Order: sequence, then C-alpha cells, then structure tokens
Amino acid sequence: MTLVNNQITQNSRILSVGAYRPKTVVPNSEIVDLIDSTDEWIQQRTGIQTRHRALADESLVDMSVEAATIAIKRAGITADQIDSIIFATISYPFQAPSAATELAARLGINKAAAFDISAACAGFSYAVGMASDAVRNRTAKYVLVVGGEKLSDFTDPTDRATAFIFADGVGAVIVGPSDSVGIGPTIWGSDVQNRDAITLEPSFLEYKNGKSIADVGWPNIAQEGQRVFRWAVYEMAPVGRQAIEAAGITANDLAAFIPHQANERIIDSLVKSMGLPDTVEVARDIRTTGNTSSASIPLAMDRLLTEHPELHGKNALLIGFGAGLVFAAQVVELPPQP
Ligand code: UT7
Repeated sequence: MTLVNNQITQNSRILSVGAYRPKTVVPNSEIVDLIDSTDEWIQQRTGIQTRHRALADESLVDMSVEAATIAIKRAGITADQIDSIIFATISYPFQAPSAATELAARLGINKAAAFDISAACAGFSYAVGMASDAVRNRTAKYVLVVGGEKLSDFTDPTDRATAFIFADGVGAVIVGPSDSVGIGPTIWGSDVQNRDAITLEPSFLEYKNGKSIADVGWPNIAQEGQRVFRWAVYEMAPVGRQAIEAAGITANDLAAFIPHQANERIIDSLVKSMGLPDTVEVARDIRTTGNTSSASIPLAMDRLLTEHPELHGKNALLIGFGAGLVFAAQVVELPPQP
C-alpha cells in the first residue's frame, strides 16, 4: 500500500523571545588572577567585559523555566498549547531523561514531544530550523525552542584558553504558524575534519583511548582558540551568504545580524566579509554576556529587541558555529512587539 500524508504545509515564524541571565555579574578582574591575564587583553581579544554566572544551586532547568515563561507569555499563548520542546544544550549533565522533559514537567506541559539536541554553539539555529520544519509540516503547532547553558559547570577556571570566554544563561523562543514566510531555509552542516578543535577533556581523549567512563574525571571544555577563530572567519561568511540567498533577499534587506557571540573580532570580520551595509544592526551582547554557546543567539536577540524596539518584525540573519565543528544559519523575521 502507498502511504498517505495529507498534511498541507503552512508558514512558520518566531512568535516571541525570552531571556534569563543569572544575577551574578563577573568582571574580567575576577577571572584574570587564575590565568595570568589582564582585563585589557580579554577586552582587546574578545570584546568581553563582564559575564553572568549561575549560583551553584541554580540549575540549567531553573534558568530555563524563567526564559521559557517569558517567551510563552510574550507569544500570547499558554504553556498547555505547546506541543513540542527542543532544548539545545551541551551542559545538561544527564543524557536521560532529557532537560526538555524536565522543563516540560516544571512548566506543567503534558504530552508535548520533548528532546535535547547537542549541536554546541550552533544548537539554537539547528533547533529553529527543526522547529520551523515541524510547524511547516504540521507535526507541531507551537514549538518551545530553548538554547541554554550552565557552562561554568564545564569550565576550568585555571584554563587560560577558556576561563575568560564561557558563561551561563538561557534564551527561548516560540516558533509557531504564520500567514507569511517568517523563517528562511536553514543552511546547516558540519566540518568533522576539525572535530578535535573543541572537545571535552580529559574524558574525550581518554574515552577515545579506551578508558572506562569510571576512570576519567569530570570533563571541562578545551579548545584550540586560533584554529577555531580562523575556521569561523573563513568558513562562516559563505554560509551566511547562502542563508541570505536561500531566503530570496539580499544583504540590503537585512535589518539585523545576530551571530553566535564567540568573539567580537569574529563578528566584525563576518560583517566585513559578508559586505553587510551600515544600516544592519549588529548584536554585540558578548560584551556583557560572554560566550553562552547555544544560548548566545536568543540572548543577543532579546537584548537587541530591547535596545532597538523598531527591529520587531524585521529581517535578521542568525548564524551559529561551534564544537563539532558544526554550523547553521537562517534569515528570520524577528518576533513582533509583544
Ligand atoms: O563558541 C565556540 C567557538 N569558539 C570560538 O569561536 C573561539 C574562537 N577563538 C577565539 O576567540 C580566540 O582564539 C581566543 C580569544 C580564544 C584567543 O585569542 P587569540 O587572539 O587567538 O590568542 P592566541 O591564542 O593567538 O594568543 C595570543 C597571545 C599569546 O602570546 P604571544 O605568544 O603572542 O606572546 C598567548 O600566550 O596571547 C597570549 N594569551 C593570553 N594572554 C593573556 C593567550 N591566552 C591568554 C590569556 N590572557 N587568557
């Protein structure tokens, strides 16, 4: 028998965004002593001035409840209307049950499809693409997409290559039906030749060498900064350009650029090599938020809309890239004014 699928496709868009930054603000001056660094070096090399850190007893899901609650309210829906949850994270310490199901339980959402994805700093853009496809195919109506990290649990404060970069926070959006196209095609992929450029150590190497999980310690993020920097600068501009073209627009039709907040010099380089006009507002949330991996794009989106309310409903290019190495980009219509 031939299978039948009578689902007629519909358009999708981001209906709302919500953000949560933990209360504790950590300036560079509190980081530098342990890594023989200076506030000046960190600011010059990354743009980071301060970042937020969760309390020891504040979990990833605690933070996510805050961000998701704001996104749900701003979308004008109730939690029980959400029928799918995609949680992008690399810092939820349990493989199962997922962070998405814990969040569902905390929000009182029953029966929703709920799962986590591991696509590091590209996780939010991966998840938005998947949520959009689900809404377009009527597999879901309202998808809660969360990008959230408590990277302080996986960062060695004495590691000179990472301690000043990574931070905590959660951003969430609701993806739902729309009259017009609100999310362009997602350009995504991986570059596995560079799989060892960002890893978890010592577990990753030890595990590859055949040691048992019980023999290896708690993992922390390790990265070859320069290698990732060069890759991002050279490889991500073409991905961004493809996303713009796939959405049927030109750079002149963009109102905002919201890249993963990894390093302000990478952001500047992408703006230049993609030839974005001066009229495009560029998200620079990294200065006071640091690098929050999967949370960085929705956190930056929320800040940009707070500082520039005129951007509601305008086109923005999103691009995420990170451990894998993996990447994803799409043009979205920013959510309407709540
Ligand atoms: O989110 C996932 C994706 N991740 C990224 O996109 C990260 C991409 N990489 C980066 O952002 C940058 O590579 C870093 C910010 C991590 C490092 O900046 P860099 O400009 O690539 O520094 P470097 O490793 O090339 O080091 C330059 C100099 C060296 O000194 P000399 O040899 O020039 O005298 C280092 O020893 O800076 C020194 N250095 C430091 N100095 C103070 C390296 N780390 C530090 C430090 N504080 N923490």
